[in-house]
Amino acid sequence: MKAKSTIIFLLLFFLFTQKNVLPQSVKNIEQRIDSVLALMTQEEKIGQLVQFTGDWDTGTHSTEPKAGKKELVAEGKIGSFLNIFGADMTRGLQKIAVEKSRLKIPLIFGLDVIHGFRTTFPVPIAEASSWEPALVEKSARMQAIEVSASGINWTFNPMVDIARDPRWGRIVEGSGEDPVLGAAMAVARVKGYQGNDLSANNTIAACLKHFAGYGGAEGGRDYNTVDFSERTFREVYLKPFKAAVDAGAATLMASFNEIGGVPSSANHHLLTEILRDEWKFDGFVVSDWNSIGELIPHGVAKDLKQAAELALNAGLDMDMESNAYTKHLSELLAEGKVSGKTLDESVRRILRIKFRLGLFDDPYKYCDAEREKKTILNQEMKDATYDVAKKSIVLLKNEKEFLPLKKETKIAVIGPLANSTADPLGPWNQQGDAKDVVSVLQGIKNKCGDKVKILFEEGCSITGKETDGFGKAIQAAKEADVVVLVLGESLDMSGEARARATLDLPGVQEELAKEIYKTGKPIIAVLMNGRPLTINWLNEHAAAILETWFLGIRAGDAIADVLFGDVNPSGKLPVTFPKYVGQVPMYYNHKNTGRPYNPKDNYTSYYADYDNSPLYPFGYGLSYTKFVYENLKLSAKKFSKKESLQVSVEVKNDGKYDGEEVVQLYVRDLVGSVTRPVKELKSFQKIFLKKGETKKVEFTLTEEDLKFYNLDMNFVSEPGMFKVFVGTNSVECLENEFELTE
Ligand code: BGC
Repeated sequence: MKAKSTIIFLLLFFLFTQKNVLPQSVKNIEQRIDSVLALMTQEEKIGQLVQFTGDWDTGTHSTEPKAGKKELVAEGKIGSFLNIFGADMTRGLQKIAVEKSRLKIPLIFGLDVIHGFRTTFPVPIAEASSWEPALVEKSARMQAIEVSASGINWTFNPMVDIARDPRWGRIVEGSGEDPVLGAAMAVARVKGYQGNDLSANNTIAACLKHFAGYGGAEGGRDYNTVDFSERTFREVYLKPFKAAVDAGAATLMASFNEIGGVPSSANHHLLTEILRDEWKFDGFVVSDWNSIGELIPHGVAKDLKQAAELALNAGLDMDMESNAYTKHLSELLAEGKVSGKTLDESVRRILRIKFRLGLFDDPYKYCDAEREKKTILNQEMKDATYDVAKKSIVLLKNEKEFLPLKKETKIAVIGPLANSTADPLGPWNQQGDAKDVVSVLQGIKNKCGDKVKILFEEGCSITGKETDGFGKAIQAAKEADVVVLVLGESLDMSGEARARATLDLPGVQEELAKEIYKTGKPIIAVLMNGRPLTINWLNEHAAAILETWFLGIRAGDAIADVLFGDVNPSGKLPVTFPKYVGQVPMYYNHKNTGRPYNPKDNYTSYYADYDNSPLYPFGYGLSYTKFVYENLKLSAKKFSKKESLQVSVEVKNDGKYDGEEVVQLYVRDLVGSVTRPVKELKSFQKIFLKKGETKKVEFTLTEEDLKFYNLDMNFVSEPGMFKVFVGTNSVECLENEFELTE
């Protein structure tokens, strides 16, 4: 026994004092974890599983830890903080951990870097509208570079929840309704945050959230019950998680919701059987904020002690803010309700990520005040956010090629969001500051210079009922050639706990639009919002509509560049826009039913009062130029499971501008052992075409693309006939057929 502890002591001596001359064998992370684990007391092990917030939630907005927490760090009773950042602040705390605590285990600092830290990038749903994974990866890379300079080494992002219901406020944080697009965006963000080397000082650990099914909340109401089949769960909701785990995501966050009666924080099937046993994930899982404590109101735990037992045994490694592990794990271990092996496994996973981040080798690598000063909101950051913003805009309507505008046009810029510098930051902006933001009005002014008179009126507020501002707005419209009407939601109408029961423009904004329309001046609607809105009136009456979501600090520059044609819009909707809230959930990859809608038959699946079609379908978005699709060709009529199929199409730029197009490929499995969606996105490519240019775009389909969970819940393909669709959105496609054989 004595000999053993002497060896361990020597190993640790090497680990912590001779870090630059570590013997090769000790460099192996698993061995290093073994040697640390062997020295840890039970209390210190539990400490690694505990995460606390800084003082952020008390309303002080300071980033100090709460009273008493520094002492706990010194005692080895805290493994992680969230909402504490800043090179000096984190250095101070890290110093306590590695100088005062017995085992000198460094802290990991987490933060919600959802679309930027100080430099605010477009909200995630906007970035997904670019359909450009490389761009989204670049955005995440820049966010990591910025925040890692401020002491943070872990972001609670990407949110990869599929969302089919725009009433759910958190639809803004994700990549929309489709699992293939969602998976591509999830992987891009993980690669961007984590880079090629997680131990570099400017890469941070990603956290896939919310595991899982959170976007399926009934009625779109946040935190609400989720209940769908294991098949839908795996094929739709888990797909982006699986792809991002395969891409090396370091951590996951358990979601608040239950699925089929089991809350995620107590879900062994999800956190252990699927995630660890099937997917071989070896990082760690953190709870959502107090989600272990919430097992009590969920009704699966009678008290916090039982909640701790359920959570740790399910595979939930780190407790964010509930205090369940701190207060009860020792007792549960003594009673044998939680085993020492289970505890060790969770500690091991957390230490593994700390080792992979390189924190044991240099705990201060993210705490460099000089680097922080040089990096935060620097020109490179501002340029990067502009590059993403201009590609996140979706042109929804452009009647008679009304846009782009000429710079000498006399413009009335009207609407409650026209001069807003706060709202373009969007929900979950971290340290974004309105004074950095270019508003739409400012963007237009910058573009046009002094020669053109730009009139501005708010007209009304975002949500208020007052119409006293209408008069001045109407007057401004009358004096102008054209009206740019900036409408939508405020930054806090979407995001967490921001479900809406209607999807209309809030307040009196639509009334304002109607009054302006009466002046006869053409309306260009610029929308800022965190979810699809029901904008039927605008769709009928505006000359042009731009969906801009919340574009971050360079919003006004990007929007002005699109309005005046310096940028040709290329975004496509990652989510369906319904016509009426009563149609939701509405998504393109639905099932056919036994009675698909047939206008000639009353007894088919439709709404008696309104029609079945969306306002804008998934994948939709216009360009200033015109793309023509021709010659959809397949390399064969049949292909076997061992072979592949080439699908090609010619796309011609038949308009007046150079432009980018997202070519989308969908498949329908015509007959299966279980029903299949009417269309499923399988692949997409973004291409650039000069005006007049034609390009042949090629896709390869393999058996892998055609697999699904069959009647016996095996993930397989089934031979038979398939339809393939290639086009500019999920509705307007060329189509062909092929057969998959054994
Ligand atoms: C949210 C998470 C977030 C966490 C920490 C929770 O309320 O659901 O998405 O990461 O808070 O801020």
